[in-house]
This record gives sequence, C-alpha cells and structure tokens, in this order.
Amino acid sequence: MLLRAPIFHTPKNPFYQDHALEVFEDGAIYISEGKIADLGDYNDVRRRHPDSPSRDLRDGVILPGFIDTHIHFPQVRVMGGLGMTLLEWLEHNTLPEEAKMSDYPYASSVAQEFLHNLLINGTTTALVFGCHFETGQRAFFEAAKASKLRIISGMVLSDRMLLESLHQTPQAAYQASKELIREFHQKDRLLYAVTPRFSLSASEAILEVCQSLHEEHQALRFTSHINENDREIATVKELFPWARDYLDTYERFGLVHEHSVFAHNVHPHEDELRRLSAAKAAVSHCPCSNAALGSGIFPMLRHVKARVKFSLGTDVGGGTGFGLAKEALQSYFLQHLSVEGYELSPNHLLYLATKAGAEALGLVDVGDLSVGQAADFIYLRPPQGSAFASVLKHAEDSERMLAAIFTLTSAESVAEVWVGGARLH
Ligand code: GUN
Ligand code: ZN
Repeated sequence: MLLRAPIFHTPKNPFYQDHALEVFEDGAIYISEGKIADLGDYNDVRRRHPDSPSRDLRDGVILPGFIDTHIHFPQVRVMGGLGMTLLEWLEHNTLPEEAKMSDYPYASSVAQEFLHNLLINGTTTALVFGCHFETGQRAFFEAAKASKLRIISGMVLSDRMLLESLHQTPQAAYQASKELIREFHQKDRLLYAVTPRFSLSASEAILEVCQSLHEEHQALRFTSHINENDREIATVKELFPWARDYLDTYERFGLVHEHSVFAHNVHPHEDELRRLSAAKAAVSHCPCSNAALGSGIFPMLRHVKARVKFSLGTDVGGGTGFGLAKEALQSYFLQHLSVEGYELSPNHLLYLATKAGAEALGLVDVGDLSVGQAADFIYLRPPQGSAFASVLKHAEDSERMLAAIFTLTSAESVAEVWVGGARLH
C-alpha cells in the first residue's frame, strides 16, 4: 500500500542536531509487512513501486504516531479537577476513584474508555501508570492487548501514606507483579513497567521489591513520579533522612537506569540532572498537569544543558486531555512565557510528541518514519470548514504547516491511526 500526502517526521533530535526535521511536501510512504518499506517524494516512491495500490491523502498530513510517556489509566473519569494542588487532588478526587479498580468489571470499562481515547487522539504508544490491584491491572492489560496499541504498564505499588485501601504488603506486591509480568511482559505489543507510585507512598521494603523484579526479569521498564510539588518533595525528604535528594530514594535501589522514566521533575537539583543524564534515564514532561495542579514550570533549558532525555506526557487525569499536540503546544506556551524558557520551534514540538518518547522508552523501531521502522503513523485531516483546514491549505511553507498542526489539531482531525501497518481507527 502506498499513501500519498505531505509527510513530516523528526528522525534526529532538534535539541542537539541540525536538520532534525524531514519533510516531503508531496510525499509518499510505502507499507509492507507492517513496516515502512519506502519513504520519499511521491514521484520517486511511485517509480520504485509502480504496481502498488495507492491512496491520495493530500487533504491532510501524515505524522508518526504520538507517544505518551506518562498517563494514568484509572484517572480518565477524574479529569478536570481544578482548584487543587497535587496532594489535595490525590486525596479528594483521584485516590477514591482508583480504589474502585479492585473491581474487574469497573476497571475493564475504564480501561476501554481510556484506550479508545488514546486511539482517537492518535497516540500509538504509551507508558501507562496502572492501578494498585492485580485484578484491575489484569483487566487493563487484557484490554490493551486487544487494542493492538503499544502499551507499557504495570501495577502501582504503595505501602504507606495516602489511602490505606490502596496499600499492598511488599510480599503481596512482589507476588502480584511476578504473576502479571509472567502473563503480559513482552506479549504481543505489551511490556511491563515496575511502578512504585512515588517515594512518598513507598517504603524501603517495597522499593527493594522493585529492585528484585528488575534483577529477575529482562527488559522491564521502570516509572514513577519525581520532584513535582513542594509539599511532596518536603515529605519525601522527611521520610528518607539518609537520601541526598529525591532521586537518591530511587537510585539506592537500582531504579535509575536507561529504561527509567520519571514524571514531572519540575524542581530538580543540578546534581539530580547530572545523575539522570549519566544514567541515561528519561523525564516525562507534563506541562498541562504542571499548570493545572500549580506544580510549576518545567526547567527545560536546564534539562537540555545537562543532556537529560525528556519527552511528553499528558498525565491524564492531572492533565487536561489525551492530545499530545495540545500537550506540546502547552509546553511551547510555558517555555515562551518563562524567563529562562527554551525557545521551542515546531520541529521540537514534533520531536517531543513522537521520537523523544521512543527514545525515553527505549523503543528503537517507532517514533519516526524512516525505512525499516514499524508502520505506526497518523493521518491528520482537518474537519471541513474548520479554521485548521483554512490555515493548512494556505500555509506558505512546511514550518508554518507544522506550527498550525500543533496549534489547531484535536481528536476531530485524527482521521486514521495505523499501528504495525494495520489501520486501527
Ligand atoms: N504523584 C503521585 N501520584 C500522582 C498522580 O496520580 N498524579 C500526579 N500528577 N502526580 C502523582
Ligand atoms: Zn502522574
């Protein structure tokens, strides 16, 4: 199958490399056996595949599938809680909802809503914070497997503070995690992520469980929260008197490595940035959530200078929706307004919403549309008569087109979503 459309992707990292964006204004991709088998200007690709069936998609654009590196499945129904900071919001809105995930049918219906929203927003890969219960997490993995999206997730571990009905004993956490890893890790498009909620609600014993799981299984991912909110950070400091800083509470247990993704990191020390970089660990930047919960403005420039990898996370339900384009735009706004902000271009926004996620998650075959990559991509077509349609049609060059895409895209513009060469939406 050959698809003709304007095509944008960022095979290189615009924070450190020139010419990171590659654009084919009248482009084509040729898909074979689930992969991008050819990419280029339409005339060239057509010449190389003269007999292939083709579709003309020139009323829209093709981009790589979006990659969300921080989002919570059990929080779909609590989005939109304004007027609170992190710990109040957890207590009043979020944790009571998460307690319902012990019920398989309830968790299953939330999981369906969640995965449907990933899909219709063009997110083809996501690192998903799970729930605190083995049953609910199984419901999620089963739905994720059926969705055919690329999902990395794990049961959330906690044994102190917050809501007591969410706690496990370290022993129960270990056993349930082992069982879920056996059933779902590296099955179809699923990977398992060891997921303590954050050090605030994790004892040393449960962080040791996380360490053991990593020692006993290959290719597990790790995710948690870090340096999000002042009160959270102060509490972690009290709970771990021996720790140099927040990162150290994970580091001591071998949890900071090239397959670790830490959400937020709004208030890092310089030394934490240095150690994250040395460990090749990644940060998930969640600008909508950081604004909604009043957590602060992400110090992007400091991350860039320290060469810490970062990508985007919507952080539903602290965040405000599933759209990675909106998340990228919010990142642009906040950096633009901040005194020490990073001046982001549309190229950076595309990179952050796609390839940066693949790099954070250690996935080498997604995130861009180079030949040989998995055919994970989206076809954006502005609704007829929309402002997005007029802007795209009259954009003077590809940079303006890309800026318009990030400013004006919403789920209504996501016309098709393809994963592994199959159209899912
Ligand atoms: N820190 C611990 N749990 C959460 C959560 O659910 N959302 C956010 N934004 N931060 C957290
Ligand atoms: Zn979160």
